[in-house]
Amino acid sequence: MSMGMPHKIGLLGMVMAALMVVSSCSAKPGDAEAGKKWYAMHNCGSCHGPHGNDGRAVSIAGLDMGFGSFVRKLRKTDAPIMPAFPESKISEQDAADIYAYLKSQK
Ligand code: HEC
Repeated sequence: MSMGMPHKIGLLGMVMAALMVVSSCSAKPGDAEAGKKWYAMHNCGSCHGPHGNDGRAVSIAGLDMGFGSFVRKLRKTDAPIMPAFPESKISEQDAADIYAYLKSQK
C-alpha cells in the first residue's frame, strides 16, 4: 500500500483550491507599467488625454474612486460618449493595471 497517495491528493486539492481562489477572486494588485500600455491600447487617452488629465473628457489622473467603482464605470459607463468596456475587452486584471496607472498619475 502506498503511503504517498493521500499526501499527493491533499496537495492536489490545495493546488485546486488555490486556483479557484485566483480565478474567482478579484484581480491581483495592479501593475502601473502594464496599465499604461492598456490605457494607450484601448484609446482612453483619445478622450482623457495621454496622461489622464489632459484630454477633453474629465480628468481621471489620480482617480478619486475605489477599484470597484472604477470597474463599474468601465463595464457600464454612464457617460454618453464613453464606450463600455466589458470583461472581454478589459479583464479584471487589466482593469487593475489601468487603475494602478491612473493612481500613479497626478
Ligand atoms: C470616447 C471618449 C472616451 C473614451 C475612449 C474613454 N472615456 Fe472615460 N469618460 C469619458 C467621458 C466624457 C467621461 C465623463 C462622464 C461624466 O462626466 O459623467 C468619462 C468618465 C470616465 C470615468 C469616470 C470619471 C469620474 O470621475 O466619474 C472613468 C474612471 C473613465 N472614464 C475611465 C476611462 C478609461 C480607463 C478608458 C479606457 C479604457 C476610458 N475612460 C475611455 C469619455 C471617454
